[in-house]
This record gives sequence, C-alpha cells and structure tokens, in this order.
Amino acid sequence: MKILSNISLKPYNTFGIDVNAHKFVDVTSVQELRDVLKNTYASELFILGGGSNMLLTRDVEKTVIYINLKGREIIEESAHEVVVEAMAGENWHEFVLYCIENGYGGLENLSLIPGKVGTAPIQNIGAYGVELKDSFEKCIALNLQTLELKTFNREECHFGYRDSIFKNEAKDKFIIISVSFRLSIKNHKLNTSYGSIDQYLEERGVTKPTIADVSEAVINIRQSKLPDPKELGNSGSFFKNPVVSTEKLKALQQQFPEIPFYVIDQKQVKVPAGWLIDRAGLKGYREGDAGVHTKQALVLVNYGDATGQEILALSRKIQDKIWNMFGVRIVPEVNIL
Ligand code: EPU
Repeated sequence: MKILSNISLKPYNTFGIDVNAHKFVDVTSVQELRDVLKNTYASELFILGGGSNMLLTRDVEKTVIYINLKGREIIEESAHEVVVEAMAGENWHEFVLYCIENGYGGLENLSLIPGKVGTAPIQNIGAYGVELKDSFEKCIALNLQTLELKTFNREECHFGYRDSIFKNEAKDKFIIISVSFRLSIKNHKLNTSYGSIDQYLEERGVTKPTIADVSEAVINIRQSKLPDPKELGNSGSFFKNPVVSTEKLKALQQQFPEIPFYVIDQKQVKVPAGWLIDRAGLKGYREGDAGVHTKQALVLVNYGDATGQEILALSRKIQDKIWNMFGVRIVPEVNIL
C-alpha cells in the first residue's frame, strides 16, 4: 500500500482541478483496503475512483482512498452468454474494449465513457440508448462499518436515470470492489436507433453491424462532441436532463416550438439541458478558464487553471439563467465536493 501526504489531486480528477489531499492511500487489494479502514473512521474517508464525475472545490482533509484494484475474470459461461467480473479500479473504456475484442456484447454503446468500473454503477452510466443496468449482473461492495463483503444484485441497486442505491441509502456506507456483467456471445442485441448511430453506420455502408462497428460509431460520435479529458478538463455532462410535466412542455412549446424532448410517460418528459443552455446563448461562454464547451453545452470545461469554485460559480449562473428564461430547474449530475 502506498501512503502519500500533501499531494495534488489534479491527475486524479478529469476536470483537472488542482486541490491537495492531506493524506492519500493507494490500495491495490481488498486486504489493504480493510487494513486502512480498520484505522480510519468512516466519516474521515474520501473514496476516489476515476474522479470522472466530481467537481473538487477545496482541499481534501479527509483520507483519500484511491481504489486501485485490478483484474477481470469470467465467472460464468454458457453457449450464449458470459458473466465477466471486473475489479473496481479497471479503466471503464479499456474494459469495454476488452469485451468487444473477445466478442462479448452489451457494453458497446457505453464506449469511451471516462472513469473506472467501480464507479460506473453509482450513477448507472448511460449513453446512446443503453444504461449500465441493462447488462449489470451484480456488484460486490465492502461495508465500511463491518468490513464484510456484500453482493448487490440488480434489483437491490435501485437503478434509475443517473441514479442508484449508492447515491442514496447506501451512500458513504459501501465501497464497490468489483462489478459483474452478463454479456452475449452470439445473437447480440444491438441498439443503434439512438442518436446518430444508425446514420453513422449507413453513411459507411455498414448494413450488418457488429458490436465493434457500434463501438466505433459511438467513439466517433462522442469524439465529435465531447471533449477528451486528457486535452480539456471536464466531467462529461455537468447537469442532468430535467424532467418536466407535459403541461410545462406545452407551455414551453408555445414559445420554443422546436424544443426537443424524450417522453418518459403520459405525464412527464425529459428535456435536454444542453439544448436549454445552448438556446440561452451560453454555448461556448467562458469566464476565465471556466467555460461551457463549444460543441456540447451540457459539458463544462476547465481551460487550464480554473478552480473548482470558479466552475461552481459558472454552473450557478447557468442554473439561474435557465430558471429565468424557461422556468426549469437544472441540477448538477456531478458530485460537488
Ligand atoms: N443539444 C443542443 N445543443 C447542445 C447540446 C445538445 O441543441 O449544445 C440538443 C441536441 O441537438 C439534441 C439534444 O439536445 O437534440 C440532446 O443532445 P445529445 O443527444 O447530445 O444528448 P444529451 O441529452 O445532451 C445525454 C447524456 C450523455 C450521453 C448522451 C448520448 C445526460 C445528462 N447526458 O446527453 O451522457 O452521452 O445523452 O446518449 O443524460 C454523461 O453523462 O457524462 C454524458 C455525456
């Protein structure tokens, strides 16, 4: 186990925010993790995975536990399916590529999402019509109080839109150690109808797409709109897409007939926050090094030396403007710490 003091967390968060951690522990096994936890109060812990869904606004005085557990294993196999278990510290996109290379279908639409395997279930990552929950089998998590392992099946995770039990009742009570996915080996169920995947494949004359084709399409579509955190600090979508009533949508349509929306049920629709921010004229807006991405208004970016406070101030300005212009409240998707 590696223990460091007073180190910068800049390389450990995709926003590239430069705050310090007083104590940083890099754990590579469950035993090491248990050892640290035995000597630290749960309230003194700061669990760090891929740092891809957080905005750090101040130095971290708690003990940062960097979950660096690695490995993947096939734990079940039949003629049609495999169950693959990946440790929490595995890079998400590398894991997706491993699945595609081995012909395991189910995660291809989730290609190129930043972050680690262990944090993916917390917000039930989703993109292009697929969510993690669709192929989730189970995850194993360490109880911070008892230091025992608990298995959560899909039902127990209470998955919702960018939501799970780990953001609610189980928050700060467990550390996810590994996640298992049930994936297809043949007769893959491809999901190409969302967004521009079909169009991308059609343009390239792909009539019978494979999981690798879908992954390639997703990678290209993402790269055309979403900034690469290695080049421009960001945390993906900063806000959730707000849910509004159908009455509210009708009122909005009077003024903005072109407003896009996704139907949830008879009473509710989801409106793209990116469209609202764009329509409010804030796409590409910049204050110092904090900005709204020029190609996708839902993403806030750090042009270099923005502080977490500056990004937070910008996000509040955006929330206010959206409220004043549309009467819709948008809330962050990222965790603000
Ligand atoms: N739009 C604009 N201007 C913009 C951005 C979007 O007009 O600047 C419009 C688009 O034209 C489109 C609509 O808004 O009509 C939706 O845009 P898009 O399809 O790009 O998706 P999104 O709603 O902005 C969501 C997820 C993304 C995910 C994509 C694709 C959330 C909060 N975000 O974005 O997830 O990749 O769909 O499935 O649900 C993430 O969570 O970090 C993330 C990137």
